[in-house]
Amino acid sequence: MTAERTRTAATLPALEKNNLKSKKNFKKLFQNEEKCAIIVSKPSNRTAICGKTIKKEVFDMEIKKQLTTCPKEKPKDESKLGFGHIFTDHMLVMPYDEGQGWHDPVIMPYGDITLSPSAMCLHYGQTVFEGLKAYRRADGGVQLFRPDENFKRLNRSNERLVIPELPEELGLQCLKELISVEKDWVPHTEGASLYIRPFIFAVDPFLGVHPGEHYLFMIILSPSGPYYASGLDPVNIYVENKYVRTVRGGMGYAKTGGNYAASLHSQADAYDQGYSQVLWLDGVEQKYIEEVGAMNIAFVIDGEVVTPSLETGSILSGITRKSALELCRSKGIPVSERRITIQEIADAYDAGKLSEVFGTGTAAVISPVGHLKWGDKVMTINNNKIGPVSQMIYDTLTGIQWGKIPDEFGWIVPID
Ligand SMILES: Cc1ncc(COP(=O)(O)O)c(C=O)c1O
Repeated sequence: MTAERTRTAATLPALEKNNLKSKKNFKKLFQNEEKCAIIVSKPSNRTAICGKTIKKEVFDMEIKKQLTTCPKEKPKDESKLGFGHIFTDHMLVMPYDEGQGWHDPVIMPYGDITLSPSAMCLHYGQTVFEGLKAYRRADGGVQLFRPDENFKRLNRSNERLVIPELPEELGLQCLKELISVEKDWVPHTEGASLYIRPFIFAVDPFLGVHPGEHYLFMIILSPSGPYYASGLDPVNIYVENKYVRTVRGGMGYAKTGGNYAASLHSQADAYDQGYSQVLWLDGVEQKYIEEVGAMNIAFVIDGEVVTPSLETGSILSGITRKSALELCRSKGIPVSERRITIQEIADAYDAGKLSEVFGTGTAAVISPVGHLKWGDKVMTINNNKIGPVSQMIYDTLTGIQWGKIPDEFGWIVPID
C-alpha cells in the first residue's frame, strides 16, 4: 500500500484542503506555527508484534500547533455539563504509516475528519481507545491520575488488535501538550473534570480482512460534570444470563469498540427493566463473575475485598480497580483476586456475610451496588447504602485526584 493511498484514506481537514501528498508539504502547512520539541528516544529498535518482527520507531519529533482563531464559548454552568457532549477547541492527531512509523503529531482545531468509505476501521473494527481525566486542584493547577497506566493498557489493546505500539512516552507527551493548550477547559466545579479520550483506528481504504498499515492516533477532550449530583447513590444491577460480553481467548482485556458493541443489547434491556447496568458472567460456563458495563466489580465478604482475577483475559484491567486494591492492601484490608461464582455471592448474602458490593471505574470512581438481581433473587446490599470500605476508597481516590490529600503512591502527574 502506498503513502498516497493513505492520504486519500484519512485526510485531516487541513491536509484535504491543501491536497497535500508529501511530508514536505505537510510541514509547510504548519510553518508559521509555534514549535514545541519533544524528543523520545528508544535504545532498542526492534520489537515483535504477533510473531512479525517490525522496526521500532526512534522518535525525534515536534508537536506542531495549529491553534484556532475562533475559540468556543466555555460552558457557564459546569454542574450541567453531563458527559461526552461538549468538546474543547483542539484535538491531537498523529498518523502512522508503515515504513515511516508514528509521525507529524499536530494539535489542531477540533473538527470532522475525512475517511474513505472503505476505511478498515469502519468494517472490521480495528480500533482501540482509552479513557482518563484531568482534574483541577484548589490552587488552580491541573493534574492527571496514573496516565502512564492508560498508555500501557492502550499498548496491550494495540497488541491484541495488531495495531502498532505507540511508545508510552510519546503518547503521554502528546497528551500533556494538548492539556496544556486546553487547560482553561478543565472545569473548576467540585467533582467535574476534563474527560480525555485517546484512540487509534485503521484508515487503509481496503476491504480485505487484514491488519491495517496506516492508522491515526487522536486525542479529544470533553469537559464532564460531577458523576454524583447528590451523594453516592447506589445503583441497581442484574446478572446477565443470556448474552455474554466476551469469552476466554477473546478481546475482553482490550479496550476496543467491539466489546462495547457486544454489550449494547443487554444494556438496553437493563434500562427497560429499571436497572442501570448488567453484571457479566464468563462466556464459557456462565457462572463466574466478570465485570459490570464500564466498571470492574468487587465484593466485601467477611471483611475481605474479593474481586475477579484477570487471568482469563476476559476482563478489562481497570486502573481504578488496581488503585483501589493497592489502597486497601496499604491499609491492611485483606484483598483476594480470584474466580468467584455468582452462586458464592448468593450464598454469602444468605449467610449474612456479604456486606458491600461496588463497581470501580474512571467515571464514577466507586459505584456502590444497592440491589443485585440474579434470576428471581434480589439481594439488597447494606440496606441500599454505601458501606465503609467503598466510602474509604472513594474518599481517598477522589482526594488524591483533586489534590485534596497528599499522594503517597506517586500516582499524580501535574501538568503545570
Ligand atoms: C469494560 C470496562 N471495565 C472496567 C472499566 C474500568 O476501568 P478504569 O478503572 O481504568 O476506568 C472500564 C472503564 O474504562 C470499562 O470500560
